[in-house]
Amino acid sequence: MLRLPNRSDPLLGRPLALYRAESHRIEVVYVAIGKMTNRLAEVKPEDPLEFWLPLGNGFPKNNAENKVQHTILVAGGIGQTPFLMYCQNRQERVSLLYGARTASLITCMDDFRQLGIEPMIATDDGSKGFSGFATDLIEKVYQSGESTQLLCCGPLPMLRSAFLIAQKLGLSCFVSLETPMSCGLGICFGCVVPYRDSENADWDYRRTCIEGPVFDAYKLRWDC
Ligand SMILES: Cc1cc2nc3c(=O)[nH]c(=O)nc-3n(C[C@H](O)[C@H](O)[C@H](O)COP(=O)(O)OP(=O)(O)OC[C@H]3O[C@@H](n4cnc5c(N)ncnc54)[C@H](O)[C@@H]3O)c2cc1C
Ligand code: FES
Repeated sequence: MLRLPNRSDPLLGRPLALYRAESHRIEVVYVAIGKMTNRLAEVKPEDPLEFWLPLGNGFPKNNAENKVQHTILVAGGIGQTPFLMYCQNRQERVSLLYGARTASLITCMDDFRQLGIEPMIATDDGSKGFSGFATDLIEKVYQSGESTQLLCCGPLPMLRSAFLIAQKLGLSCFVSLETPMSCGLGICFGCVVPYRDSENADWDYRRTCIEGPVFDAYKLRWDC
């Protein structure tokens, strides 16, 4: 959670993913769309910022119990930000599918290339890469016979569409939600999402700030 110290406007902090973290330095990448991010864009190098971190969970680790051969990362909008550190620690083959509305909004891709990952880019208006949605590329990179998981971050319609494809192909699928937050600490319940442990269980809620933002897509409710 990011706050501007000694300011009460905006009153609430805003969640931002950690893009890169190295010893005493962290990096975030943001798109200036509202009050906080536009003010952040005016911050000078010597200005203090207040970060509460780390909060919440992350994408599941690929380990001996969870042996995945191919991870398909699906990112939309500014949803590529949590994936760089995932890629730094990957053990499996990774495909990055990144969708943006238009070419001028594409960012960070060289950092992925430096890790040896050539992103497949899609734009809604066809100004760069594939003309269409990043989710349209999932079935193009998926190879049956390989143990594959989908990890997704971006706007809700993209997450829903990625989940439906995962369901069709029988793949595991985890999504990082961009739910707005208030306290960020699990106190206000302002960030709850419908959730159930299994298909037969009753629906309940989980807090995106401390029990997410990453959830097993099969446990979330997509019809509301
Ligand atoms: C876990 C997590 C990680 C995230 N990581 C990142 C990240 O790495 N980088 C990043 O850029 N973002 C990230 N986000 C999203 C970011 O937190 C939000 O976009 C945040 O709201 C931006 O704050 P803001 O004050 O600039 O915009 P806000 O003022 O909160 O506005 C956000 C959006 O709502 C619209 N809006 C605001 N008020 C109204 C209104 N009255 N009516 C209609 N629309 C309105 C704005 O136009 C804008 O599109 C993340 C979110 C989550 C939950
Ligand atoms: S933001 Fe307050 S409980 Fe999640």
